[in-house]
Amino acid sequence: MALGLALALVVALGIGLWPGSLKADDRAQVVAQRQADMTRMAAAMRVIGRFLKNEGATVAEVGASAVVIRTVATKMTTTLFPEGTAVGVGDSAAKPEIWSQWDVFSQYAADLTAAASRLSAVTGAGNPGALRAPIVVVVRSCSACHESFRQGKP
Ligand code: HEC
Repeated sequence: MALGLALALVVALGIGLWPGSLKADDRAQVVAQRQADMTRMAAAMRVIGRFLKNEGATVAEVGASAVVIRTVATKMTTTLFPEGTAVGVGDSAAKPEIWSQWDVFSQYAADLTAAASRLSAVTGAGNPGALRAPIVVVVRSCSACHESFRQGKP
């Protein structure tokens, strides 16, 4: 119990000091973590793509995919992009402009969060025909941010 509390404190303090004090290993770790999260979103998008092409994905699966995307989107401005993790750290493809234009970057993340929430809500109504429009908004939201802030690979 006491140990658990001590650990919780260490974690809390770590977050308090972060991002300025992130060590090199930790920065590489964050890059790997966010790339894994982005890859989870890409997998969710493939499920959604199967739905669009009538290749067997259900409305419920699209809903679950939207929740995965929303979960990652909400982490983008909290834990996934600390300063000091631009191109040059690990194999980061994050442009330095993310931090000089943090408001713009945050808006893209908020747009994706909203788009994924909307898609999730629409899947709740169970009408397959209503899904296409909110899906398009999600897809555009991914590429809009990549065009501005992802190095080399739009
Ligand atoms: C707010 C900006 C933003 C949004 C929105 C966004 N991305 Fe990204 N994405 C990035 C950045 C920046 C990188 C580069 C990260 C790095 O290399 O460290 C990236 C990288 C990726 C990668 C490559 C991961 C790897 O292993 O290198 C994939 C795949 C990806 N994104 C998928 C998506 C999908 C799918 C969506 C929408 C559902 C999305 N992204 C939305 C900013 C964003």
